[in-house]
Amino acid sequence: MKTMISSLCLFTLIAITKGQETSFFRHKGVNGGIPCAGCTFVVGLIEQLAQVHNRTIMETVDDLCDLLPQGVYHEACTAIIHRYGPVVIDLLYAKITPDLICHGIRFCYVDPGKHFCNLFPLPTQHSSNDDHTARMIKMSHTISEKYLGKQELGKFPDVCQIPGIKFICNVLNRPKHSDKEMDSNCNGIYGVDIDGVPYEDKFCKNSSHLGIGILGDSAAAHFHIPEEWLMASRINKELLKHLPFVIENEFDWPMMSAATGAKWTNLQYYQKQISRNQMADYPMLLFYSLVGNDVCNGFPDTVTYMTTPKQMRENVMNTLKYLDTRLPKGSHLVFIGLADGRVLYNSMYWRYHPFGEINKDVKYPDFYEYLKCLEISPCNGWMTSNDTQRELTYKRVVELNNVLRLIAVNYRNKFDNFDIIYLDCPLMPVLQQWEKIHGKNTGYQLIEPVDGFHPNQYAMVLTAQYTWDLLSLMAPHMLTDVNPHNKEIENIFGDQGGY
Ligand SMILES: *[C@@H]1O[C@H](CO)[C@@H](O)[C@H](O)[C@H]1NC(C)=O
Ligand SMILES: *[C@@H]1O[C@H](CO)[C@@H](O)[C@H](O)[C@H]1NC(C)=O
Ligand SMILES: *[C@@H]1O[C@H](CO)[C@@H](O)[C@H](O)[C@H]1NC(C)=O
Repeated sequence: MKTMISSLCLFTLIAITKGQETSFFRHKGVNGGIPCAGCTFVVGLIEQLAQVHNRTIMETVDDLCDLLPQGVYHEACTAIIHRYGPVVIDLLYAKITPDLICHGIRFCYVDPGKHFCNLFPLPTQHSSNDDHTARMIKMSHTISEKYLGKQELGKFPDVCQIPGIKFICNVLNRPKHSDKEMDSNCNGIYGVDIDGVPYEDKFCKNSSHLGIGILGDSAAAHFHIPEEWLMASRINKELLKHLPFVIENEFDWPMMSAATGAKWTNLQYYQKQISRNQMADYPMLLFYSLVGNDVCNGFPDTVTYMTTPKQMRENVMNTLKYLDTRLPKGSHLVFIGLADGRVLYNSMYWRYHPFGEINKDVKYPDFYEYLKCLEISPCNGWMTSNDTQRELTYKRVVELNNVLRLIAVNYRNKFDNFDIIYLDCPLMPVLQQWEKIHGKNTGYQLIEPVDGFHPNQYAMVLTAQYTWDLLSLMAPHMLTDVNPHNKEIENIFGDQGGY
C-alpha cells in the first residue's frame, strides 16, 4: 500500500504560510512558532510512516506527493520535497530526531531568553543534557548546510519564495482579520495601533459594512483536523479524497478561535453568537456562549492576558445594549458560562497524542507543553501540566461566570427586546454523564484528539441536547413561544434552516 503523507505537506505548507502571515495571531510564537511545529509534525510523520509500512525513508519521501490530487497542491508538495527531501532523508538516517532536524534546516531556533522546545524525546536518556542536545543540533546544522548552503540557512526559510509555492501562499494569504497587515477592502485603513487594536476595528467597526462582513466569517467555529491525517498507521488515499475542500473551506488553526473574545469587539461577539445560533437551529434563541476565549491565550504569563471581571461586565453590558437595538421583540438570550477546562487535562493527560501513538513517546502533556514552549498554544491556562496554572485559570472562570450570572439575574427582564437566562457550561455535566454510561476515563472520546482542546462532534450533539433539556426545564417559555417576528428575523438574518 502506498502511504500518504502529502496531506502533511499541505499541513506544513499552511502552517508555514499562515505562520509567516501571523497577522491574526495575537501572539506569533517564539523559537520558530507555527512553521517550526509544522516542520516537526511532518518530519515525525515521515519517520513513522517508514516504520509502519516497513519502507525506507527514501521510498517514503519519494512517494510523498504521488497520491495528492493533481494541481497546485501536488506541485507545491513536489516543490517542498525537492528542496527539503534529500536533507531530511539524510538527517533521519543519521538518527537525528524530528525536533533537531527542524532546527537543522532552520525552521526552529532558540530565541534569546527562551528554551529549546521539543515534541519528541531527545536522543538520549539524559534529556536534560543541554550539551548533548547542542551537539546534535550542531550536527544537524552541518548536514543541512551541506545540502542547502550556508547562505540559504542564514535566515528563516521563506517557503513562499520556492517556485511552485508562491501561488498557494497568495491563495492562503487572502487578507482578512481586520486588515491588520493589508488593506483588504481598499478603504485605505490597515495596521494596528500601539495597543494592537486593528485600525479597521477602531475606526470602521461602527459601520454596517464591516458588521456584515464579520457576520459571514465563522471559520473559527469549524476547526477540525481529522485525526487520521496525522496518524502514520491510518493515513491512506481514501481518507484524503476531500482534502482540497477541507483545506480551502474549513481547516484553520485553533489559535484563531483564541483570537475572538471579550477583549475583542462587541461585533465579534455578536457574529459568533449568530453563527452558533444558526448552526444549532434554534432560531428564536440567541446563545451567548463564551466557552473559553476569555481565559485562553498563548502568552507565557497567561493570567495577565485573561479578561478581568470588570472588563467582562463592561463588554457584556455593551453587547446587550447593542443586541437590544437589533433583536426583535420577544427574543431570548441564553448565557452559557465559560467551561471548566480542567476536564481537558484530566481527560487527556494519560493518553498518547496521535503523534506519539506508534512509538509510545508523546503524551498529551508533552504536546501541550510543546505548544506552550513555542508560545503557540491556543490556551496556556488549560493546556499545561502545571496544576497551579490550571487552578488559577479555573479561579478566573468562576469569577467571570459570576459576572454573567449576576447580569442574568439583575437584567433578566430589563431589556426591551429580550430576556436573559444563565446556564453553566454543559460540557462538564455531559462529560460526567458520558463517563457514567461508557465507563471511567472515557471522557477523552468527546475531545478532538489532534488539538486535545476542542470538544468534538459527539460532544456538540450531546451538549446541544443537554442544553435543550435544561432550557425546557428552567425556561420553557423560551422554547415554546412562537415568535410573531419570525419573518423579520429571516429578513435580517436569512433562512435559519427549516423553521
Ligand atoms: C521489512 O522489510 C525488510 C526488507 O524489505 C524485510 O527483510 C523484513 O522482513 C521486513 N520486516 C517486516 C516486519 O515486515
Ligand atoms: C456609532 O454610530 C452612531 C450613529 O451612527 C453614533 O451615535 C455612535 O456614537 C457611534 N459609536 C462609536 C463607538 O463610534
Ligand atoms: C506553575 O504556575 C504557577 C502560576 O503561573 C507559577 O508560579 C509556577 O512557577 C509554575 N510552576 C512551574 C514548575 O512552572
